[in-house]
Amino acid sequence: MYGLLRKLLFAFDAESVHEWVLQITCRLQPLGLLLRPLTQVSDPVTVGSLQFPNRVGLAAGFDKNARWIGVAEALGFGHIEVGAVTPRAQPGHPRPRIFRLPQHGALRNRMGFNNEGLEVIARRLRGWQGRRRIKVGVNLGKNADTPLDQAGLDYQKVIDGCASVCDFYTLNVSSPNTEGLRSLSQVDQLDALLRQLRWSRPLWLKLSPDEDMDAYRQIAAKARDWGLEGVVFSNTTARRDPPLDQVDALGGISGRPLLKRNLEVLGQIQFSVPVIGVGGIFEAADGLAYRRAGASLIQIYTGMIYAGPALPSRLARALRKDGP
Ligand SMILES: Cc1cc2nc3c(=O)[nH]c(=O)nc-3n(C[C@H](O)[C@H](O)[C@H](O)COP(=O)(O)O)c2cc1C
Repeated sequence: MYGLLRKLLFAFDAESVHEWVLQITCRLQPLGLLLRPLTQVSDPVTVGSLQFPNRVGLAAGFDKNARWIGVAEALGFGHIEVGAVTPRAQPGHPRPRIFRLPQHGALRNRMGFNNEGLEVIARRLRGWQGRRRIKVGVNLGKNADTPLDQAGLDYQKVIDGCASVCDFYTLNVSSPNTEGLRSLSQVDQLDALLRQLRWSRPLWLKLSPDEDMDAYRQIAAKARDWGLEGVVFSNTTARRDPPLDQVDALGGISGRPLLKRNLEVLGQIQFSVPVIGVGGIFEAADGLAYRRAGASLIQIYTGMIYAGPALPSRLARALRKDGP
């Protein structure tokens, strides 16, 4: 059934469709109660110091402004990462900036951390306090015009501003759409950044799929000492290896092309903290493959666009069956 709807939705600009869908489904949210018997999967799992209702989360960037928490809950997600949130509101790159690549089961995006800013988003999150059952993480971003050597100040502002309204943070040093950001994921820079930051909720680190194995090995070894509670693997890829070599070079690619590489990396690297697997999960078998590769939790974004809104509960059910 979603196949038909998808055909219709794919006839329009991707970001416009995203906005309409978010708005309409927010209005329909009260009907979510009716969906609950179909969508809710109870599979409590402890990751670091947090207990999640199940293993499936909505990846960062889908709900940049914390408007969709109730809908995500109704669809059966166990957690959601909102943002990326930057201290000040910013418009991101000019539109159009999300492109579908149906032949690859992928999206290319160059959003550039468009969001309504810390103050608005923290206020919205405060409204959810005590009313939500899923865990909410804040994806930490820096403003585009903040110099890289002051990125830590931006991250710290968002950490402090959301301390009482979220369950965890994800340090995003891996978006390809903010100039220079990825250089912060080099081990020595990361080391300096993490020594500088102070946080009072669990902190996850989100990595790019484009680093080399040596870099992953070093990060994997240090993650626990840095005080991280999770590594999110991965963000979008800036690479254009075949069959993506004809795709426009701007922006990050998400979806199917990430799956194989991500599973390979996770198969080879032993992180010293739990792994949250994300990238190219479109069906139960993909989620199970991440579990086998060691992921404690999984997240989806592009799969929601291609496989539809039943995907989170389908995945949560498959992972529950899969055992402890
Ligand atoms: C339009 C779009 C915007 C995104 N924005 C963010 C973001 O703000 N922060 C972040 O950490 N990841 C962001 N991502 C990356 C996703 O969270 C996810 O890591 C990536 O898309 C791979 O998962 P997928 O293959 O299931 O989409 C974004 C992805 C897309 C497609």
